[in-house]
Order: sequence, then structure tokens, then C-alpha cells
Amino acid sequence: MRAAAASAGRGSALALVPTMGALHAGHLALVAAARRAAPVVAASIFVNPRQFGPHEDLASYPRDEEGDLAKLREAGCDLVWMPSVEVMYPPGSVTAVEVAGPPAEGWEGTHRPGHFRGVATVCAKLFLQTGAAVALFGEKDWQQLQVVRRMVRDLDLPVRIEPVPTVREADGLALSSRNRFLTAEERARAPRLAAELHRAAAALADRRPAAPVLSAAVEALTGAGFSVDYFALVEAESLRPIEALGDEPARLVAAARLGRVRLLDNIAVPPRSGG
Ligand code: PAF
Repeated sequence: MRAAAASAGRGSALALVPTMGALHAGHLALVAAARRAAPVVAASIFVNPRQFGPHEDLASYPRDEEGDLAKLREAGCDLVWMPSVEVMYPPGSVTAVEVAGPPAEGWEGTHRPGHFRGVATVCAKLFLQTGAAVALFGEKDWQQLQVVRRMVRDLDLPVRIEPVPTVREADGLALSSRNRFLTAEERARAPRLAAELHRAAAALADRRPAAPVLSAAVEALTGAGFSVDYFALVEAESLRPIEALGDEPARLVAAARLGRVRLLDNIAVPPRSGG
């Protein structure tokens, strides 16, 4: 990969789009942002076993190698890095990168123990393998984005992390590779998560107290058949929970299960001083 990047780039900066494949328009927005960020664009496709828990969906995670390569070619991606599990984690590999505090604590960190250790480890390896100067991450996985930023800062990795806004369906549902597992009936209900985030953000911007706003959202989602893991108001960067909007950037983050699919979403909440 390093040799290919060096010959494709001839000294130019490389932008990396790390993915687990099963690509959709959200990933292609990352590729488009990568093309604006650097002259050479690489995408990685690697379903990282270390970020899945023992009872999670590693075996059934969607895979579509041929479709992915066609989409990446069409989107103008120059290089695709698709290491096998043995290349990424050769026998005897025991080293991991752990973000041992906020923003990795709570939320996904609680519901998916070990998940961010797997994400941080594979991202550090992908940055080193590709020599990327820039890496693009979707805001859809907000906590992941903050974890990767924290790791890059803490380890002085020479890569700039660039966030890309969430791409949504016309009805508001955030794109995700796992959405394909929603039944038609669940798919029709799924946009309710984004709708409740928007409703809560508007109420908070209206200076309503956070606790009742958040519990009303959980109640509405539960009533609509979601099983809610969390629906929280947090500091945007540290993911620490907050009780009321202040001057610091804040975010509403949520995860809820609908049938067999766990949906994740988040939106910015305007700080109070910003009106
Ligand atoms: O967001 C993802 O698809 C994955 O967590 C990532 C960043 C590619 C690491 O495996």
C-alpha cells in the first residue's frame, strides 16, 4: 500500500476514506470531500473484527466487494486498500490503541465495550499503512469521529481528521450500511429517530430544560416501537453529558434499536449564546 501510494502520489498528499465497505451515498460524500482535500484519494475496505463484540453482527455485516469497487472507481478514487484480516492482524498481533477516557466513555463506549479500542487500533494502523495526510470521517458516527480526533492528538499522528456532514434520505433517515436490514415497515418508521432529534434540538434551542425534553423523546420513540439505548445531550467534543445548554458546542446523540437494526444518529444543538 505504501509503495502504491508513493507511486500514485509522487510526493503529493493522500486523502484516506476509511470504510467497512457496503458503500452508500454517505461514503461517496466522503470520497468527494477527499478529492477536494488532496490530489490522491485512497479508500480502505476492511470489516474490522476487533470493533465487533462477541454477540454483534460481524458475520452478517453486509459485504459487496464488486459493487464497492465499481462505486469507488466511478467516484474518482485512485487507490483501494483491502487488507485481509491476516494482513491487518498477523498471528501474534496483541497491540491495541485505547482512548482511555472521554470522548470514548459512555454511549457507544458503554453499549459496545471494546468497540472504540478496535476502531482506534485499526484507524491508527490505516493511517500508518497509507501515510495519509488527511482522513475523512462522517459525522453520522459522531462519537467515533471525536475518539479518532482525540487519538490523533494524543499520539501526534501526522494526519488531519476532516469531518463530513451526515447524508440523509429525503425523509431524514441517516444513511447507514445496516439500513438494508430494516423491513419495509421498520424503514417507514425509522425516520422518527431523526425527527425526535430535531424536535428535541428545537425545544432546547427554545431554552426548555433538557431532562423533560430528553425523556419526552425517549417516550415518543419507545411508543413508536424503538428500543432506545440512549438519547442524550452532550458536550460536542468530549461527549460528557450536560444538563443545560451553555456556550460550549453541544450535540444530541442517540442510538435505538428497531427490529434487528441498531440505528445511530446525532445533530448539533445551537449554543444558547448563538440564539
Ligand atoms: O466507520 C466505519 O466504517 C469504521 O468504524 C471505520 C472508521 C472504517 C474503522 O473500521
